[in-house]
Amino acid sequence: MRAPKLADESLSMVGGYDKARAISERSLAPPLYQTISFPLESAEVARRVFDQEDPYTDYIYTRRHNPTTSIFEERMALLEGGEAGLATSSGMSAIFCVASYLLENGAEAVISNRVYTRVFELFTKTLSKFGVTVRVVNDPTDLSEWEQTVSKETQLLYVETPSNPGLVISDIKALSEIAQSYNVPLIVDNTLATPVSQKPLGLGATAVIESVSKYVTGNGTTLGGALITRKDWVEEIRKTEYLQYGMAPSPFNSWLCLLGLETLKLRMIQHSENATRVAAYLENHPKVGTVNFPGLETHPQHELAKKQMNGLYGGLLSFSLKDERMEKAFDLLNALRTITHAIHEGSSRSVICHPPSTNFADLTDEEMEKAEIPKSLIRLSVGIENGDDLLNDLEQALNQV
Ligand SMILES: Cc1ncc(COP(=O)(O)O)c(C=O)c1O
Repeated sequence: MRAPKLADESLSMVGGYDKARAISERSLAPPLYQTISFPLESAEVARRVFDQEDPYTDYIYTRRHNPTTSIFEERMALLEGGEAGLATSSGMSAIFCVASYLLENGAEAVISNRVYTRVFELFTKTLSKFGVTVRVVNDPTDLSEWEQTVSKETQLLYVETPSNPGLVISDIKALSEIAQSYNVPLIVDNTLATPVSQKPLGLGATAVIESVSKYVTGNGTTLGGALITRKDWVEEIRKTEYLQYGMAPSPFNSWLCLLGLETLKLRMIQHSENATRVAAYLENHPKVGTVNFPGLETHPQHELAKKQMNGLYGGLLSFSLKDERMEKAFDLLNALRTITHAIHEGSSRSVICHPPSTNFADLTDEEMEKAEIPKSLIRLSVGIENGDDLLNDLEQALNQV
C-alpha cells in the first residue's frame, strides 16, 4: 500500500515512524535506543555486515547511526523535502561536516557575512587553515555582489536566511540560480525559519543545515543539528567525515528532537504571531529606533519574505533604542521581569540578549559594521507566552530607561 501524502503537521508526528512501524515496535512513541552498540548474532554475521558493499545499512555503532536518530533524520528529510538527512551533535557540526566534505585544499567558498559569528569564524579562520579561500559577500541582498564574488574556483555558496541577529532575508531562488550557473551547491541555514516556514530545497538549494537546538526542540534542552541533502552525499559523509569526526548526536537528544518536532508548526504559528505583535509595538514606541523583523511591512525585504516564508516569520527580532548608548541597552535588559536574559534563541520561553557585547563580540569592529550590527543592537527571541504579558513586560522596562 502506497503511503498517503501528508502535510507538515502530520509528517511531524509520523514521518519515519508510521502506523505499521508503531504496531510492529509495540510503542506509540518512537522508541529510544539509548545504546552505543548493536549485538550481532554471530561472528559470521558480523563479518557479513562489514563485508557488504555498503556496510552501513545494518546498525553497528551509534557514532555511525542509531535507530532513534534514523527516525529523526528521516522526519527532518521529509519535512525539508530532501532525499536524506544526517543528524549531528550541534548545528555547528552539521555545517563543518558538509563544508569539509565539499571543500578541498585550494578550494574557494563564497559566504554571506550575515551569518552566526561561529559560522563566520569557521569559514574565515578554521577552514582557511586547511587551504580554503573564503570570499565574503557584504550585502547578501545584492545579487550582483554574489555574481561578482563567485568564480570558476568556487566550490560552494553559503547563506543564512533569515540571518542572526539582523534578520536579513536573502533570495534563495535567485542564489540557487547563480549557484547552478556555476554548477556548485548552495547551502542554506534554515535554523530561524524551520521547514514549516521555508523550504530552501524546493527553491533550488542543494543542502539545508539547521541548528535543531533552537525551534525544532523548542524547549532549550537539546543541542543538535541536521543536514538535509542528496542521498549519495549523506551516505558518503556518514561513512567518512561524520564517522571520523564523531559528529553523531546522543540518541536521547534525537528522541527529544522528535518530541519537539511534534509541536513545531503549532509553536511557529504562535512565535510568529507574538513576534509580529511585539515588533509592531516596538516600532511605534517613542524610545525605540530601528526594528528588524521580516514580518513588518517596513522591513526592506518584506515582499521577498512573504513569498519565501509561507506566512510564518519566526520569533526572532532585533532592535535598537533611539538612545544608542550601550548602557541604555543594558538598562533595558536588566529591567525586564519575565523575558529572560540568555544567549539562546528559538525556545518557547522568550529570551533577550545584547549580541555586540556577547555572542557577536568576537567580530572585529569592521566586520560588525559591514554586517550592520550596531553597538546598540538588542536581540529578542519572542516565545510562545501570552502576548499581552510580553508587551506589559517590555512596556514597564522601557518606562525605566
Ligand atoms: C543561525 C544559526 N545557525 C547555526 C548555529 C549553530 O548552532 P548550534 O548552537 O546548534 O551549534 C546558530 C547558533 O546560535 C545559529 O543561530
